[in-house]
Amino acid sequence: MAAPAPRDADEDPCFDEILALRPHLSVAIEAGLMVEGVPLARIAAAHGTPSWVYSASTIEGRYRALAEALSGAGLDARIHYAMKANDALAVVRLLGTLGAGADVVSGGEFLAARAAGIAPGDIVFSGVGKTEAELRTALAAGVGQINVESAEELAMLGAIAASMGLSAPVALRVNPDVDAGTHAKITTGRAENKFGIPIDAARDLYARAANTAGIRLRGVAVHIGSQITALAPYRAAYARLAELVRSLRAEGLPVERVDCGGGLGIPYRNEPAPSPAAFAHVLRETVGALGLPLMLEPGRWLVGPAGLLLARVILEKQGALRRFVILDAAMNDLIRPSLYEAWHAIVPVSATRWHAPLAPAEVVGPVCESGDTFASGRMLPPLGPGELVAILDAGAYGAVMSSTYNARPLAAAVMVRGDEVAVIRPRQSHEALIAQDVIPPWLASGR
Ligand code: LLP
Repeated sequence: MAAPAPRDADEDPCFDEILALRPHLSVAIEAGLMVEGVPLARIAAAHGTPSWVYSASTIEGRYRALAEALSGAGLDARIHYAMKANDALAVVRLLGTLGAGADVVSGGEFLAARAAGIAPGDIVFSGVGKTEAELRTALAAGVGQINVESAEELAMLGAIAASMGLSAPVALRVNPDVDAGTHAKITTGRAENKFGIPIDAARDLYARAANTAGIRLRGVAVHIGSQITALAPYRAAYARLAELVRSLRAEGLPVERVDCGGGLGIPYRNEPAPSPAAFAHVLRETVGALGLPLMLEPGRWLVGPAGLLLARVILEKQGALRRFVILDAAMNDLIRPSLYEAWHAIVPVSATRWHAPLAPAEVVGPVCESGDTFASGRMLPPLGPGELVAILDAGAYGAVMSSTYNARPLAAAVMVRGDEVAVIRPRQSHEALIAQDVIPPWLASGR
């Protein structure tokens, strides 16, 4: 996100504006808010709340729009979906069937990508601290590319691969020292961040890597941050990357491909976010001239707008100074507002509320922290007990960042396509939540 959004309700888009920008949502008089052809009230009745609801057609449409923008710009670019944004197997499988590979950052994500049907050769393993066990698993399975983030990791990976009689396919992730202009907690391409190899050191390390046993150099990679809504940081980072590739080639070093990372932002509130065509144009102007295959690792752009968190109002409470709308969803479900002061649109599900008089509300969850706030001073209609609301654009970094804080089970997730609904992750039961715990024998006979 750019600078934390000002909490001035006047600048918030109205419900109709919110809907106009989200074609998979509509409101019908009887049915209320619908995702594709399915009323959210029906999903709540069948599967309970809080629930994540994902629109398959939206994910599909966004993947196609991005892929077409890239090919339309004359680029040979392959999309590797950054599954940290949403690791539901159904979501990964859907993107895989459309042609995406996967970008993973842990052994767990690697296994999940495989379980979703992504071929090992279509998986990129990123991340600043991969363990030996994770690297061994990925190498043994035939991972497509490992993005190495330091000289230390290169040495470790070379030794592991050589001991297995393998050559690890490697790209060096460089840190271009570019400010992505995003929230401090999700910027990754500044010199002070933990990510990547300083770009000035990358040339020497690349030359060294070319002669390291167990390493097969594929190319270079960069990722400067997330929720990037301006193109200038991309232009600067990719220009530096292209310059690096040219100097590597001038030294006769092999560069087969360039991984351009992810980070493309989406409009949560009314931020002007770049179009895929404008982004593709920047790629073409910078790394495009290298004539190499490109890779991209988008997460949020593909799935963020496609998901929402469906919640029910527990009660509306009139505090001393403010009106509180207390939902059955909380910060343990969707932590983005608490963690990054992120703005998410919140809309009523009932059509009768759609044009009712608005008044400011604090939209909160039941967790015992004041930070458990989805929105502050948000203009909303009266919302009585049992009414439903949808917290929008929660398809990325929503369910994946959930916890069970306050012993709250993980919410259910459903996927909608047309007028079909499928549960893609059942709600965790209270029993399952405590089933992993073990009471030591010396306490077992307690009073
Ligand atoms: N590649 C790498 C190496 C990454 O670290 C990330 C995200 C991506 C790709 C995908 O970035 P995207 O296209 O989704 O922006 N929890 C935060 C976002 C953290 C992003 C971490 N890295 C949030 O809710 O805003």
